[in-house]
Amino acid sequence: MAIKIAVLKETRRGEKRVATTPVVATRFQRLGASITLEKGAGVPATFADGAYKDISFADAASALVADADIVLAVQPPSADTARAMKSGSVLVSFIYGQANTDLVEALRDRKVTAFAMELIPRISRAQSMDALSSQAALAGYYAPLLGAVHMPRILPMMTTAVGSLRAAKVLVMGLGVAGLSALATAHRLGAICEGYDVRPETAEQARSLGAKFVDTGIDARGEGGYARELTADEKVKVRQILSQHIAEADMIITTAAVPGRRAPVLIEADQIAAMKPGAVIVDLGAEGGGNCKGTRPGETVTAGPATILGPLDVPSALAQHASELYAKNVLNLLTLIVKDGALTLDFDDEVIAGTVLTHAGEIRNEAVRSAVEAKVSNNMETSK
Ligand code: NAI
Repeated sequence: MAIKIAVLKETRRGEKRVATTPVVATRFQRLGASITLEKGAGVPATFADGAYKDISFADAASALVADADIVLAVQPPSADTARAMKSGSVLVSFIYGQANTDLVEALRDRKVTAFAMELIPRISRAQSMDALSSQAALAGYYAPLLGAVHMPRILPMMTTAVGSLRAAKVLVMGLGVAGLSALATAHRLGAICEGYDVRPETAEQARSLGAKFVDTGIDARGEGGYARELTADEKVKVRQILSQHIAEADMIITTAAVPGRRAPVLIEADQIAAMKPGAVIVDLGAEGGGNCKGTRPGETVTAGPATILGPLDVPSALAQHASELYAKNVLNLLTLIVKDGALTLDFDDEVIAGTVLTHAGEIRNEAVRSAVEAKVSNNMETSK
């Protein structure tokens, strides 16, 4: 019998993406799977039910997942949905277990094998499954567009009959996947671009996109390709140099993240106060609390001379393409765990071992297991 894949309709407010597109659904079928989509799941991403061929539809998530071997979603599903899943079935979605301990407990207790897309290892072999990167590339592309429509001036140089307008200066802080993508868009729009990151290897990447690199002389490479926390002295030195570049920028895009922690604050209130009138900050770190003092996640605020945008769930604004890339990331992961129409879980494979969050009644990720244990002992303390 064909393996049954269920695709959930997203329920988080404002979420428009869907875990599979009509094109990718046919590829799942080639893996030997039958697909059931929750009715209307693709509609917010512009994929009408009729665009999906040879699949079935279900009205309610609970009935849908109760019958599925593999459940696909973008955002973490509810703990209730997890409890309705078949014991021994598979979930593939973003899970963010440290923040969603109730869901993790439900998945563990239901003996679901849950793959968390945010845990896909950042290694070459797994690049085609790396949903954090695919979604960050789109968010980065979108950030300068968002900033541009909130600016009282244009980005490129323009020569007119009454004189020339100077090109705007765009500073991108945090040159991971999103930051580099933002630099590329800002450059295409004709802005004069600068990039900054604590990882020095990003200097060359910024230059290859036509941007200058703000060199502070500090190397903050940490483990696994991520940045480490800076020391107090390093922060003072960096601040002096950056303040000058912040004051000269017409648009700043911040994308800095340190895994597992609140987003670092890169721009303080006094630096915002010294910005040009009409300058705009697009804070892509808003989801993690924000990279600027004054960022209000999900809102656009005026702060002295500047406007600060704190957009949330940015890839969702590009739901059609974001879903297409996400669905392909999931498909590539499923090709590792579905062989000849059957589930095969090889935990010696570092991609599978690194991505699995719960399996056979256990929490397999140490950080998430600690978060769940801490919650349980906290609850015991308060009930004493
Ligand atoms: P991220 O979203 O975790 O962080 C964004 C950027 O912010 C990073 O470049 C980081 O260095 C920077 N940052 C952190 N603290 C900062 C601070 N105080 N000031 C300025 N910048 C700061 O990054 P992302 O995009 O998830 O990538 C993280 C790393 O993983 C990068 O080295 C990237 O090249 C690497 N990577 C490797 C892949 C692979 O080999 N398959 C795939 C994707 C990313």
